[in-house]
Amino acid sequence: MTNKFSLFYDYPLQKLNTFGIAAQAKYFVQINRPEQLAALRADPFLSSLPRLILGGGSNLVLSDQVDALVVQMHCLGKRVIGEDDSHVLVQAEAGEGWHELVLWTLAQGYGGLENLSLIPGTVGAAPIQNIGAYGVEMQDLFHSLSAFDCTTGETIVMDKAACQFAYRDSIFKHAYKDRMVILNVTFALPKQWQARLNYAEVARYLATGGIDAPCARDISDAIIAIRQSKLPDPQLIGNAGSFFKNPIVSTSVRDRLMAEFPGLVSYSQPGGDYKLAAGWLIEQSGWKGKALGRVGAYQKQALVLVNLGGATGAEVRHLAQEIQSTVKKKFDVELEIEPVFF
Ligand code: FAD
Ligand code: EPU
Repeated sequence: MTNKFSLFYDYPLQKLNTFGIAAQAKYFVQINRPEQLAALRADPFLSSLPRLILGGGSNLVLSDQVDALVVQMHCLGKRVIGEDDSHVLVQAEAGEGWHELVLWTLAQGYGGLENLSLIPGTVGAAPIQNIGAYGVEMQDLFHSLSAFDCTTGETIVMDKAACQFAYRDSIFKHAYKDRMVILNVTFALPKQWQARLNYAEVARYLATGGIDAPCARDISDAIIAIRQSKLPDPQLIGNAGSFFKNPIVSTSVRDRLMAEFPGLVSYSQPGGDYKLAAGWLIEQSGWKGKALGRVGAYQKQALVLVNLGGATGAEVRHLAQEIQSTVKKKFDVELEIEPVFF
């Protein structure tokens, strides 16, 4: 099998980013086999270009002209690679759909990933921001990953400690930014499965349906239904999920805010800090359901910015900045943008 790849010029990206921005890549390649990355690195011209690794495009805000080499990871495959007394090891290639992997593990009888159902995007992107939802983060089930180091040309294996996972964060956003291409990820799924229902909304949903001892599939179904009820479907309304991280503040900041705004939504964190609901801050700042040009804050979930039709990356950035400055003025809290601008 050859390691050659096809190079495309002025490649349309509108269908490859969930915000639906009508961007165009100056150069584009699709990677179907990891060996093609070495061939790409050996090309003096292509390896000199700025590079965007593309998964499902669900956490990206693109400029109209992406003056770079866009490398779409499309390596497929998933398998059980081993087990010990307590865990089954499941490995998936970077280009596999995240939600499809979750459903596949559940169909094999392996629970663990169910709280992360219906998160868009690929397996390869999941470690980048350590995806999380409904009381679980990817790092909770993570075993290791393989990555191609664009600097050295070597393939390395990284364990959990090496990835430096944190809330919506990892080493891939810092020291290894733009350096590592994640090839595959291995998960350790527990043989003794336990439901994780610490998120009140999920427990409530199951109780309403009369399910008092849910299995992993019940939890997945509940989470799919909850997500569908409040998050916009990118097939219908362009978006990148939560646009800002939920800010983490000290107890004293939270107490100050609580005194002034008794309705403040906050969650205590291990270590004593508090996570604030950014959606609440944005709603209270008057942005929910409001728009600036062709971008708005979604009417059912203010933390999600939506493409009202034909939005550009610059318009998205403008609304994000306006929201940041209103929230800063009202609450003296900084909102950090979650998606990647390119
Ligand atoms: P992309 O958007 O293509 O890329 C994101 C970043 O990862 C870029 O920097 C890219 O260069 C890099 N990247 C992608 N693949 C690789 C690779 N193989 N190697 C190295 N770098 C790579 N996120 C959550 O955490 N929780 C949620 O609940 C959640 N809900 C969402 C709901 C909606 C409706 C949407 C649209 C998004 C949501 N997101 C959520 C955000 C998004 O789904 C995740 O960040 C997801 O992991 C992005 O995957 P992707 O393949 O689309 O990555
Ligand atoms: N809220 C409002 N108004 C709003 C939106 C939210 O007041 O318009 C308040 C409500 O009190 C609500 C609370 O904020 O109870 C939390 O809202 P929600 O449960 O919808 O979750 P979130 O904090 O807004 C986070 C993640 C999501 C993840 C959900 C479920 C971040 C930045 N976002 O959203 O992740 O799916 O929890 O766990 O941490 C993503 O990262 O893209 C994403 C969608």
